Amino acid sequence: QRYRDTGSTEKMNPFAEQEAWEDHQIGNATLKFGAKNKQVSDNYEFVFEDQIDFIKASVLAGDNYEDAMPAKPSQESTGKSAFDMLREERKNLPIYSYREQLLNAVKDHQVLIIVGETGSGKTTQIPQYLHEAGYTKHGKVGCTQPQRVAAMSVSARVAQEMGVKLGHEVGYSIRFEDCTSEKTILKYMTDGMLLRELLGEPDLGSYSVIIVDEAHERTLHTDILFGLVKDIARARPDMKLLISSATMDAEKFSDFFDQAPIFSFPGRRYPVDICFTTAPEADYMDAAIATVLTIHVKEPLGDVLVFLPGQEEIEAVEENLKNKIRGLGTKIRELIICPIYANLPSELQAKIFEPTPEGARKVVLATNIAETSLTIDGIKYVVDPGFSKMKSYNPRTGMESLLVTPISKASATQRAGRAGRTSAGKCYRLYTAYNYYHDLEDNTIPEIQRTNLASVVLSLKSLGIHNLLNFDFMDPPPSEALIKSLELLFALGALNQLGELTKAGRRMAEFPLDPMLSKMIVVSDKYKCSDEIISIAAMLSIGPSIFYRPKDKQVHAYNAMMNFHVGNVGDHIALLKIYNSWKETNYSTQWCYENYIQVRSMKRARDIRDQLEGLLERVEIEVSSNSNELDSIRKSIVAGFFPHTAKLQKNGSYRTVKHPQTVHIHPASGLSQVLPRWVVYHQLVLTSKEYMRQVTELKPEWLIEIAPHYYQLKDVEDAASKKMPKTSGPAVV
Ligand code: CDP
Ligand code: MG
Repeated sequence: QRYRDTGSTEKMNPFAEQEAWEDHQIGNATLKFGAKNKQVSDNYEFVFEDQIDFIKASVLAGDNYEDAMPAKPSQESTGKSAFDMLREERKNLPIYSYREQLLNAVKDHQVLIIVGETGSGKTTQIPQYLHEAGYTKHGKVGCTQPQRVAAMSVSARVAQEMGVKLGHEVGYSIRFEDCTSEKTILKYMTDGMLLRELLGEPDLGSYSVIIVDEAHERTLHTDILFGLVKDIARARPDMKLLISSATMDAEKFSDFFDQAPIFSFPGRRYPVDICFTTAPEADYMDAAIATVLTIHVKEPLGDVLVFLPGQEEIEAVEENLKNKIRGLGTKIRELIICPIYANLPSELQAKIFEPTPEGARKVVLATNIAETSLTIDGIKYVVDPGFSKMKSYNPRTGMESLLVTPISKASATQRAGRAGRTSAGKCYRLYTAYNYYHDLEDNTIPEIQRTNLASVVLSLKSLGIHNLLNFDFMDPPPSEALIKSLELLFALGALNQLGELTKAGRRMAEFPLDPMLSKMIVVSDKYKCSDEIISIAAMLSIGPSIFYRPKDKQVHAYNAMMNFHVGNVGDHIALLKIYNSWKETNYSTQWCYENYIQVRSMKRARDIRDQLEGLLERVEIEVSSNSNELDSIRKSIVAGFFPHTAKLQKNGSYRTVKHPQTVHIHPASGLSQVLPRWVVYHQLVLTSKEYMRQVTELKPEWLIEIAPHYYQLKDVEDAASKKMPKTSGPAVV
């Protein structure tokens, strides 16, 4: 059974006037301009992708595009309240015409696949429709999002539309941040959080409807949820299950969910001209900046969306772009630059949704978040360098890296589509048509097939799912990866030889952290330093953005950082010192400024630490402090991270102890000049080299003392250290 209404789509000839590019000199920046009917052999050619469908396209290239953009009445001119305006905007969304049909389909079917163009209103409207239709009378509507930023910003929008305070009737829940209350009936949450909720409420009894949204993103947690909610829906006929996705993979979802009907409705799409470069670009960031500037000086008004792999790239492009704009002076219009990425503080997130002032242009520098999860109105130009940051995992060595990787054709199509939502647009692909057709995969490989599974395996085990090889996966992970994660959990003492959860494993599962971090916390009980260890865990969880380095004060910033490394204590202890020093100043902002530390990151660390402290109580671990015994703290770290150890080589590089591989200490580490013989590291990052980030020195005999089941004497034999341990101590569980 299929609900399908393609509406009145009118196909138009996408081969509009071709344009070429020529160079122009403005100020001190070289720009490439489009020039009609000119054959200029430049870096760009225009290629129109003909498979883009559209409805109501009254324009072809050459006409005034602006006509296609529905003019937004301003508040002053209509005299309407902001709330009325929002109500009207809701009615203008494509999904609105299908409201009744959709609600009927939900009434008639327990499980429904919903497919609609990105930006058509699925995420913001469906939960409200369900509420209006009475589904919140006997339970909540839960809606999962793969991206935490999306959960926050969409719930804020819905709260606004409903005229309620965020956190009351409408709320969100993301890791370490719960913005919901007793009153909450529409709950947006990350897919990972719903998975955690299942640990406490295995039948999701407090929900009347579960929406697994942005299902096409196929994140690890979404994929695991598929198998779990499918089962729950069978056991709970009163619960509705909606799987909602952009226009991809619908049949596959339907097949997985026992041939559930597909409700698909048309969106609005305007033609998007796709341009490829004629030659590969040497540096996609430079190319992106040049393209943005070109658009800004040459193209009609309309906002620009640039896709970049991650926060670092976004910050680099932002700075560079600002400098270039400054160089151009007042010759050009105002350009407002808005970054958006997962760790962007929430007060800055709202900025991307603010309407662009008249006469100005906004350029949004975004990660994949803006590909489907977030819709920003007014985007007319998309710049797609063709990369995203993706996890890759080697199940043989158990090593995981984040790599800048070419995107798939499906992603490229989604990205381009963001330009044609409210009017005709253009997408500039910073790669060649040849690259596109020959090098890009059709679809992105689901995360479950390229990631470390230890954390979800631990969750599944604590949900009582023992036979993982029989779990109902939409696409199963490689069996080596499953086995590797079982081995790791066994080594950490979370599972026994039969693969059953141990007491330590049960405690570890309570922490929303990687199992190695959880183990470090659980074991700190034994070393009487849980107080210090949760501070370290919290600091490790906020990521690398603790210090900032203003360009003109690099040396000061560096010295401030090195202050915490006095005595070469190692990065973990340095993190602890930072946290404790801040705490001693009563969490002073001034202190952060003086030490070139990001106060926002510290506040987040404090929040996380508070929650970890609460969880300690839950698993009945006393908060105990042992700050003078640095070796106890180090041993707790090793007890969690013993699989991550490396030994110094003659040439100054390191060799990982198990699964030998050459690695280096990250230049930002306090130990990068010290080069201890043996180290334990938090994670590996691959940039120009394979780097260990957050490194602490260890004594090799600890490995035998703490992990005798994992290391043998021969692993830790060290010509320089004659003192070898004679006995092996008991395993720490
Ligand atoms: O989920 P789907 O992609 O179908 O659309 P949506 O996220 O529900 O977005 C519908 C509309 O809400 C779009 O026009 C967005 O611009 C708007 N929206 C917004 O203005 N602010 C947000 N934080 C989220 C959505
Ligand atoms: Mg959505």
